[in-house]
Amino acid sequence: MLEKISLLLTEVNSFKSSDKGEIEQFRIKYLGQNGILKTLFDDFKTLPSEEKKTTGQKLNELKNKAEEKFQELKKLLPDQDGDNSEKFLDLTLPVNKGTVGSRHPVSIVRNEIIEIFSRLGFNVSEGPEMEDDWHNFSALNFPEDHPARDMQDTFFIDNSFSQPAGSDKNKKPARALRTHTSSVQVRVMENQKPPIRTISPGRVFRNEAISARAHCIFHQVEGLYIDENVSFADLKQTLLFFSREMFGEKTEIRLRPSYFPFTEPSAEMDVSCFLCNSKGCNVCKHSGWVEILGCGMVDPAVLENCKIDSKKYTGFAFGMGIERIAMLKFRIDDIRHMFENDVRFLKQFSSAV
Ligand code: PHE
Repeated sequence: MLEKISLLLTEVNSFKSSDKGEIEQFRIKYLGQNGILKTLFDDFKTLPSEEKKTTGQKLNELKNKAEEKFQELKKLLPDQDGDNSEKFLDLTLPVNKGTVGSRHPVSIVRNEIIEIFSRLGFNVSEGPEMEDDWHNFSALNFPEDHPARDMQDTFFIDNSFSQPAGSDKNKKPARALRTHTSSVQVRVMENQKPPIRTISPGRVFRNEAISARAHCIFHQVEGLYIDENVSFADLKQTLLFFSREMFGEKTEIRLRPSYFPFTEPSAEMDVSCFLCNSKGCNVCKHSGWVEILGCGMVDPAVLENCKIDSKKYTGFAFGMGIERIAMLKFRIDDIRHMFENDVRFLKQFSSAV
C-alpha cells in the first residue's frame, strides 16, 4: 500500500493542466466521493495496527497534496467563479459607451438662431402658449372683423374669445392657442422700456390640415428691435447678417412687399437657394430663391397699444418658422417627421450640431 501511495504522490505532483474539465476530472479521480483517496482510506481501516502509523501519515500527505494541487490549478484558471477576477481585469478593453440621445433638428436650428442673434445683442424672451385675444390679435392691429384674422385659423379655448377683452372687469379674458410668436412682442413691449432687442422662440398652433408642408403645431422665432431711429436699413442689414451666418457667407437676400396688420411697411424675405447656389432645384422650385420669413417696421399703432411713444421710438420685427429652416438645412421633405419621434429619423442629426 505504501508503494501505491508513493506512486500516486508522484502522479499528483506531476499533474499539470489549465483545462477546467481536466482539473475537475483530477478532483473526481482523487478527491471525489468514489475517488482513489476514499478507497485508500477504506482499505486503511483493514490494515494491521502496526502499519497504520506510517501508512496513515503517507495517506494524509497524499490527501493534502491532492487538495493543494487542485486549489492551485483552479486558481490559475481564467476568471469563472469571480474569485480571481482582479488577475484578469483588462483595463485596455474599450468602454461600453451606452446609448446617448441626439438633439431634435428643431432644437438644433433654434439654438443656432438664438446664438446668432445673441451676438447682435438680442436676448431671449418667452410668453404663454395659451394667449388672450389682446396679445395674439387686438394689440397687433387685427380689428374684430378684420379679414387678416382668417389668415390664421385659430384653436379657440373659450367660445367668447372674440368678445372685446376687459368689457366685463370680473370676467377672465378668453383664450386661444397662440397662432404666432408675435404675441410675445406685445408682452415684451408692455413690460420693458426701449431700447428692446429680443428674440422669442416658441411653439405656435394653427388649425390647418396636416400635410407634408404644414402642421397644426410648429415653432417660430420672433425678433423685435425698438429704439430711437431704427430704420428699415437696420432691419435689412440684421437679416442679411443672420442669413449669411445661417446659410453661408455667399447668401443673398431679397425683400418682397407683403402685408401684416402689425408692421408697416411689411415684407417677406427670401434667401438665395443655398442648396443649388441659385442655379435652380426642386427645393427653390427653380427660382433660385427660398422664402424664409416675414418682417417689417412695427406699426406705430402697435407701439401705442403697448404704451411706447411712437414719435420717439421706431422698430422692426420679423418672424420665421423653425421647421421650415430645419427642413431646408437638413433636406427634410416632410414636416410630419418632426413630430413622430421615430429614433431612426432623430438619430440622423446628432452630428450636425
Ligand atoms: N407673425 C407673422 C407670421 O406668423 C410673422 C411676422 C412676424 C411678420 C413679425 C412680421 C413681423 O406669419
